Amino acid sequence: MSNPFPDHFLWGAATAAHQVEGNNTNSDYWVMEQVPGGLFKEPSGDACDHYHRYREDIQLLADLGLNSYRFSIEWARIEPEEGVFAAEEIAHYRDMLLACRECGLTPIVTLHHFSSPRWLISAGGWLNEQTPARFASYVRKVVQELGDLLSYVCTINEANIMSVALLTIDTRDRGLGEAETNAPVGIQEQALRMPPALQNWFGRMAPRFNVRPDQLHPFILTMAPERHQVILEAHKQAREAIKAVNPALQVGITLALPDLQSVEGGEERLRVVEQEIYLNYLEALHHDDFIGVQTYSRSIVGPHGVLPVPEGAERTQMGNEFYPEALEGTLRRVARHLSLPIMVTENGVATDDDSRRIEYIRRAVAGMQRCLADGLPIIGYQHWSALDNFEWMLGFDKHFGIIGVDRQTQERTVKESAYFLGNLAKSALRAEQTRS
Ligand code: BGC
Repeated sequence: MSNPFPDHFLWGAATAAHQVEGNNTNSDYWVMEQVPGGLFKEPSGDACDHYHRYREDIQLLADLGLNSYRFSIEWARIEPEEGVFAAEEIAHYRDMLLACRECGLTPIVTLHHFSSPRWLISAGGWLNEQTPARFASYVRKVVQELGDLLSYVCTINEANIMSVALLTIDTRDRGLGEAETNAPVGIQEQALRMPPALQNWFGRMAPRFNVRPDQLHPFILTMAPERHQVILEAHKQAREAIKAVNPALQVGITLALPDLQSVEGGEERLRVVEQEIYLNYLEALHHDDFIGVQTYSRSIVGPHGVLPVPEGAERTQMGNEFYPEALEGTLRRVARHLSLPIMVTENGVATDDDSRRIEYIRRAVAGMQRCLADGLPIIGYQHWSALDNFEWMLGFDKHFGIIGVDRQTQERTVKESAYFLGNLAKSALRAEQTRS
């Protein structure tokens, strides 16, 4: 296939602050991880110490031949108490952005990636109708202070994550699924079912936030349908705040989008699922500049819900199906309903066999190339993840990174898959230079 990558295509890898920085002590996750008897396999601790090692990590990505880096700014650091902005943390992220620019990496910055300030949760979290204005106030500050170094901004990571997670549970409640079917993003399945043991955990966590258990609404674990409005309103107000300060910045949201397929008889149910996890969000995105697509595997829908992983299929460390073609399916679905530029903001696989990661990247990128050849407006590919990191409740032993991290020494090891991705980027960028 001739090189279909458009000029300025963004090749990169992604991280999220809480998963890599370490010692995110003012965040809700930090608090939740410390409560004994909960669902966290282990606390995040120093994570990958990216808070101190970002220059080294950014240099590694640049050395591979990538031209972009997606990372998140941690709200809990910028605004550790409501209305109090920490100048030294703003300076920290300024230096991260400068490091990217100095290495020739375009930064793609996420403003909320699952973790929130502890105080926000004390103030009602993601069900409080003032949360959108509070989010917009933090976002405004970030853009006022750092906007000169930003390019692409993702307001909220996986705005639809709980809709995706709840689908899995819906299936199990009907007795159709099996234990580890498709549970996304390091969310322990029990966390969504709320058995008595968990209600106890909530009971122990709530006082740490000064709320009652039924008032505890972190971004992940908030199941009430009203969350949807709060999240989308937060996105809209953040977008308006960004554009008011710096209209040139490219603003989008990211969505968790498994490739939806159906077996015979599952078509109607598929439409319901698609509505729930995808179409319900579109109305809020029409004034955006791009959409961030995050795909890991497929979900096969039967007449009553999402089916278990097909028997005999290869599985990743997360228990989902090894299915790199999911990216192509999702990109085509997104392009059918939305005419915005598409950035793949996450795509990857948890495995200790790096040759399978190479295979995954090869097939996922080939699918993306077919989409580009058909004219889909794809503007970048950010692999998840740059580093082996803290996979939320599941801790450190799920390995998504193209760069390994020694848990004792924090030493980095660049994996073969990183060179493979870097070589894809280099050959596409060389072809671009030849054209110009
Ligand atoms: C999330 C990441 C997570 C990854 C792998 C994505 O949905 O944005 O934070 O680590 O999935 O589970």
